[in-house]
Amino acid sequence: MRLLFALALSAFATVALASSRADDEHSHAQPQLVRITDMALDLRVDFATRTLQGEVVHTLAWADPKATGPAELVLDTRDLAIERVQARVGEGRWQRAAFTLGEPDEILGRRLVISLPGRVEAVRIRYRTSPEASGLQWMPPALTATGRQPLLFSQSQAIHARSWVPLQDTPSVRFTYSARVRTPAGLMALMSADNRPDAQPTGDYRFRMPQPIPSYLLAIAVGDFRFKPLSPRAGIWAEAPVLDRAVAEFADTEAMIAATEALYGPYRWERYDLLILPASFPYGGMENPRLSFITPTVIVGDKSLVSLIAHELAHSWSGNLVTNASWKDFWLNEGFTSYVENRIVEQVFGAEQAAMENVVAQAGLREALRSLPPERQVLALPATPGGDPEDATNDVAYIKGQWFLIFLEQRFGREVFDPFLRKWFDEHAFKSVTTDDFLAFLRRELLAKHPGKVSDAEVAAWIAGPGLPDTAVPATSARLEAVDAARTRWLEGQTTARGIDTSRWITQEWVHFLEGLPADISAQQLLEIDGAFRLTGTANGEIAQRWYPITVRAGYFEARPALAQFLRKVGRRKLILPIYRALAEQSEGDRVFARQVFQQAAPGYHPITRASVQALLDARAP
Ligand code: BES
Ligand code: ZN
Repeated sequence: MRLLFALALSAFATVALASSRADDEHSHAQPQLVRITDMALDLRVDFATRTLQGEVVHTLAWADPKATGPAELVLDTRDLAIERVQARVGEGRWQRAAFTLGEPDEILGRRLVISLPGRVEAVRIRYRTSPEASGLQWMPPALTATGRQPLLFSQSQAIHARSWVPLQDTPSVRFTYSARVRTPAGLMALMSADNRPDAQPTGDYRFRMPQPIPSYLLAIAVGDFRFKPLSPRAGIWAEAPVLDRAVAEFADTEAMIAATEALYGPYRWERYDLLILPASFPYGGMENPRLSFITPTVIVGDKSLVSLIAHELAHSWSGNLVTNASWKDFWLNEGFTSYVENRIVEQVFGAEQAAMENVVAQAGLREALRSLPPERQVLALPATPGGDPEDATNDVAYIKGQWFLIFLEQRFGREVFDPFLRKWFDEHAFKSVTTDDFLAFLRRELLAKHPGKVSDAEVAAWIAGPGLPDTAVPATSARLEAVDAARTRWLEGQTTARGIDTSRWITQEWVHFLEGLPADISAQQLLEIDGAFRLTGTANGEIAQRWYPITVRAGYFEARPALAQFLRKVGRRKLILPIYRALAEQSEGDRVFARQVFQQAAPGYHPITRASVQALLDARAP
């Protein structure tokens, strides 16, 4: 109790210092002095040199616009060649401005310091990107679905926008933007902006994004993309060979938008389209405004993984509309989004589907907690200067964050909690927020209005305490309990694997079945499972992600060729890292095997994926 009280104090004491949690130690920018309010890009996409070349004009808002004398603008860059900087000193009059680039930092890149004659309204920067830009993947035709045209896509979150545009790369700053993009003719350019369903591949495109966004939501993709509508305001962009399968799998997108609007108010971004990328896309999905980027690995034929779309769509409220001010408060983006995602799934696919997904997610969280140090098990993370913001990308932010909101929902009831959450989105729309902002809102709008339901100490245990609070009620699912029973019958020899009726199992049931297998399962037992269910070679990444590590640990070598093929084909970090990790932990022979496969696969991986696999294999080097 004493401990909880101390936690309660520390969580709420920070309210008084609200501004400090908003500070972003992962950016060189000084938003308290000056902010970018609009950005005009003019870029050429050059596949031959794998570079973007062009200009950006930043419109600036100074905190103290009347102050006279020289001024400085500090921007974030990473591997950018800065060719010229100009300041606007009058209507249409530009004057050269001196600039320096700071020392490169492995994670933060280099600061660009621009010396200005005064608090000018705009600066113009001519620059080009590096072929190794961490936020861009340049793909040769051979790695695409058509095999005929090259393809480019960006991934700016968390701090990779600075590798393709010099800007204030912090989620505490929002700007509108416009862009002119020139590509080879025949290729389509798309951005996190006003993509037109009827656009023709002329090679010269103009975009506008009138709603202000943080830098990590800046996005571009270029390729042989075709469009099919799902509804008047939603549709799918993809390479032709995947388009129809994607349209079938994601047919419920409009129903999901409508379900979210019914809960949390109007969709504020006009269109909502999906862009299906090649399997090397390093994430499941990325919530780029108006155009979520999506891995093709969730197109499994039975819609069992479309919660990914619910997730990226949910970000249109939690994350894109109401944005974490710094990556320390990542749970405000991802925990809220995982909560909203599950509400959408429940509405569109039913309570049992939603429950199964929660059981699987909560098991994943428990597993993740086993290997995280206590200070990283909290929702409101401490500042980590010099650290990588992507270290916050784990189940604590996502699933513990979601579970906290489920806890509040259970205590206050949906009649109260749903309007509360809607009000949070409404009152903070197009703003960046901290955990302290949420705690203040929570106390004012929920705890104080409904006294006696939840205590400060209970809240503090979720926000600032490690592990799972004892107020966490685990999700349950009847279908997954049936899976448990079947697994037990098989392990106890009461049935053969073939004797289990799996004819109606969907992904979550397979995942749950595999996760419940004992650690000492033998290769012989896996042979029986594989014979009955043909898991080796599965096209389903969620199953592959669990099955292959089990085969590695049991020494079931029959799975190796398919395992290697999977690692060569898929670049989604979440799916392949567990397999590399299992190999790296197993034996020297397995490590050699892992390095060989990585060497073959690396050219097709995104720079982000390549770096994480490399780091994992280096950590296990003999
Ligand atoms: N915004 C994230 C992806 C992300 C997080 C990229 C941090 C870079 C840094 C996206 O919304 C996401 O959470 N994707 C998940 C899918 C989801 C269903 C859990 C993923 O990619 O696995
Ligand atoms: Zn997310």
